[in-house]
Amino acid sequence: MTDKVRWDEFDKLHVVRRLRELVGKWWQIQINFTDTKGLLRGVPEGKFFNPLNPICKAVTEDNRGFEACRGTARQTTVEATRSKDARISRCHAGFSTVTVPIRVEGKYVGCVFGDGFLVADSAAEQKTRIKNYLERQFAGREQELNNYVEALPILSEKDIAYLTELIEMVVEEIIVSQKRVSDEQDKVGELSKELGTRYGFDRMIGKSAPMQDLYRLLDRVCDSDATVLINGENGTGKELIAKALHYNSKRKDKKFVVVNCGAFNENLLESELFGHAKGSFTGAIKDKKGLFEEADGGTLFLDEIGETSMSMQVKMLRVLQEGTFTPVGSTQIRKANVRILAATNRELQRMVKEGGFREDLFYRLNVINLLVPPLRERKEDIPILAEHFLNKFAKEAGYKKAVDKPTLERLMNHDWPGNVRELENEIERLCVLAGSDTEIYADLLSAHISDNAKNKFPGYRVAGKLKDALEDLEKQMIRDGLERTRWNKSKLAKELGISRAGLIMKVEKYGLDKRNIG
Ligand SMILES: Nc1ncnc2c1ncn2[C@@H]1O[C@H](COP(=O)(O)OP(=O)(O)OP(=O)(O)O)[C@@H](O)[C@H]1O
Ligand SMILES: [Mg+2]
Repeated sequence: MTDKVRWDEFDKLHVVRRLRELVGKWWQIQINFTDTKGLLRGVPEGKFFNPLNPICKAVTEDNRGFEACRGTARQTTVEATRSKDARISRCHAGFSTVTVPIRVEGKYVGCVFGDGFLVADSAAEQKTRIKNYLERQFAGREQELNNYVEALPILSEKDIAYLTELIEMVVEEIIVSQKRVSDEQDKVGELSKELGTRYGFDRMIGKSAPMQDLYRLLDRVCDSDATVLINGENGTGKELIAKALHYNSKRKDKKFVVVNCGAFNENLLESELFGHAKGSFTGAIKDKKGLFEEADGGTLFLDEIGETSMSMQVKMLRVLQEGTFTPVGSTQIRKANVRILAATNRELQRMVKEGGFREDLFYRLNVINLLVPPLRERKEDIPILAEHFLNKFAKEAGYKKAVDKPTLERLMNHDWPGNVRELENEIERLCVLAGSDTEIYADLLSAHISDNAKNKFPGYRVAGKLKDALEDLEKQMIRDGLERTRWNKSKLAKELGISRAGLIMKVEKYGLDKRNIG
């Protein structure tokens, strides 16, 4: 439950309004709310409730009386913390008060109280007390005071029971409304958690829209046993994602085993994956467990799956279909319960068409497909990734460095063909080169990165009219953007923060028609 109590909302509840009206009209009793500390809620700061009888009005008009009233309200509501039911008590001036605690899902959130009345049994005594209390304030107006006191509402035992019942009804209504509000808040909280910007998943960093989509997908697939094929260019974080999937799954206490399918020749890969029996080939001096068995109960990550030979693909298909395999040189069929994750930077579908990859294996692997976007398509992640790596290397060095603005701009302008790994390496290199300096300047950047940034703006002028320079820059940005988004003008317009119509006008102005460019 959300802790926040919506006091202002109570006033708008129909039942509350109606009750205030009724008890006000019948008995001149005022209804108020206090929180757990006994502070009045739902009234403007520095104001007390709206006293209905002239005596209460007089009491609260006086500073001392006002403070005393607040003190009583505090005391009664704090006392109500311990009680479950309604309580009748006395205020400092001598009036009676009914207090009903509000408990939402067992938690005490405050009270509703009604006061400003006399109880039949003790009315005479109360009147005397009230007169004594106000004697000084009404000096010279004794008759007036007397008239007011005589006109005060006196409630019989039955009236009090009825009043209590009414207040209890209000409390119930408040509890229901509070629960509804808090349920809604919880729901909103969950939703915004789901929809709001996330800065990472496990050890992955990135807040760009494509990464948000990826996190949402990861949330959904990490607990399933389905095979996942992770596609993405070099250094985009495929292995990091595979790890995140394993360590956020129910298999996390078992092993995460990586096998690089491109690093072995066919025979070696087979024995690596499925194990071998003693004597099955020269050098096989004893039985050896394969990685499939090693990963039993856990996750096996088949990295560079696109590099697997056709005959090896057949064997892999069998494991994926039946969960069984045979160690090299053995006749014994083995079984292992393994979740398979695979990754490649190659376009498997194209390989299938060209005959380089088995279609059946492709479909087996591709149950869930995760596409990791290249860094150049999510450049807004560059600053936080850079910061992340600066922190990482700061841990190693013992103190943190920062990149200055021009350096960051160049990092943003570079296209990062080696993706996050390239950025990580560049930051590491910068940290080393900067030596004991805490600030990293652009002249330390690798030449291809700073050159690239310059090349991006061939028309970049150091002299001449600002307007022309800006137009050159604008033209270049639109041209690059069109290529990058494959002429998706709506997408590019959004990226550039202009309207689609505005972009089309500029495309015409600069003659950036598709036919003119490529
Ligand atoms: N989103 C990210 N947040 C933080 N670090 C990342 C992120 N993506 C990649 N990295 C880091 O970049 C480096 C490369 O990542 P990883 O090895 O997972 O990429 P890959 O896609 O498997 O690359 P390759 O295709 O070359 O095998 C790692 O050091 C990894 O920690
Ligand atoms: Mg990798």
